[in-house]
Amino acid sequence: MEIKKVGVVGCGLMGGGIVEVAAKAGYTVIVSEINQQLLDKGIAAINKSLSKAVERGKLAEEEKTSALQLIKGTVNMEDFKDCDLVIEAAVENMELKKKIFTDLDKICPQETILASNTSCLSIIDIAAVTQRQDKVLGMHFFNPVPLMKLVELVKTISTSEETLTTARVFGESLDKTVVIAQDTPGFIVNRLLLPFLLEAVKMLESGMATREDIDKAIVLGLNHPMGPLRLSDLVGLDTAYYICNAMYEETKDPRFAPPILLKKMVTAGQYGRKSRKGFYDYQPG
Ligand code: 3HC
Repeated sequence: MEIKKVGVVGCGLMGGGIVEVAAKAGYTVIVSEINQQLLDKGIAAINKSLSKAVERGKLAEEEKTSALQLIKGTVNMEDFKDCDLVIEAAVENMELKKKIFTDLDKICPQETILASNTSCLSIIDIAAVTQRQDKVLGMHFFNPVPLMKLVELVKTISTSEETLTTARVFGESLDKTVVIAQDTPGFIVNRLLLPFLLEAVKMLESGMATREDIDKAIVLGLNHPMGPLRLSDLVGLDTAYYICNAMYEETKDPRFAPPILLKKMVTAGQYGRKSRKGFYDYQPG
């Protein structure tokens, strides 16, 4: 099956990034938000990122214009009715995701592939609310989506080979490298990443090293682009907290148990870059 028109549910950090890379690759994209204000904010962020790509010499001005012309925002899910693929990038809440997939299943033609960008939730639990389990899979992008080269495709026990092949061809057409993961908590990347991030938080919490030294050690000792505390701020401490809780609930594996410091910071509204305060300060200037 050939994908021509793509729907994206949610125009936040991840949804907006997916819209941007799909439009740059020449797909017609419909993106939905729950209200016009969030939609305008999301489209403005896409515009800003495309302008940055132009400034950095990664994109021609005309390519930016063409990409923007391919993007249509909506607050009405019915507009997904003629999409070949819809990628859900809403907040990490299973009940909300089930509701979205129930609606998409009614709105979209039987051949439409439905994907979730969830970082950790069970794809089969989401697929089970539809009448097309063979056409449902996980399509997990990484933050920041325009810069990160990987897409994890998550295959459930019901996903068909045809759906997986179509998703792989689509992922590669976005200039991403695709890996296939089974439908297990955290898939490949977050299963390895979360214990690493949480251990760094525990190290800071116990006073074993300063935040600067923990990050410096990993950047210089392992050649990572950023240390685990700065990366946690980028991912969002609320998101990291949500993911590790969900993985802990599912597996009861203590490696995924959230440290108390992380819980306290999330309770205090210190979410990292998005709230301008996390392990580091991000106040302007
Ligand atoms: N569009 C296109 N290209 C852009 C761009 C844009 N909007 N903005 C910047 N670029 C280009 C730059 O020109 C530069 O290209 P070059 O290497 O050819 O010169 C390159 O992208 C890097 O840009 P910057 O110099 O601005 O940024 P940094 O070098 O500081 O890198 C970073 C920023 C890519 C975020 C890097 O620090 C990094 O890789 N960090 C780790 C990110 C990571 O691990 N993400 C995964 C998080 S986990 C996740 O998402 C899963 C979830 O489920 C939790």
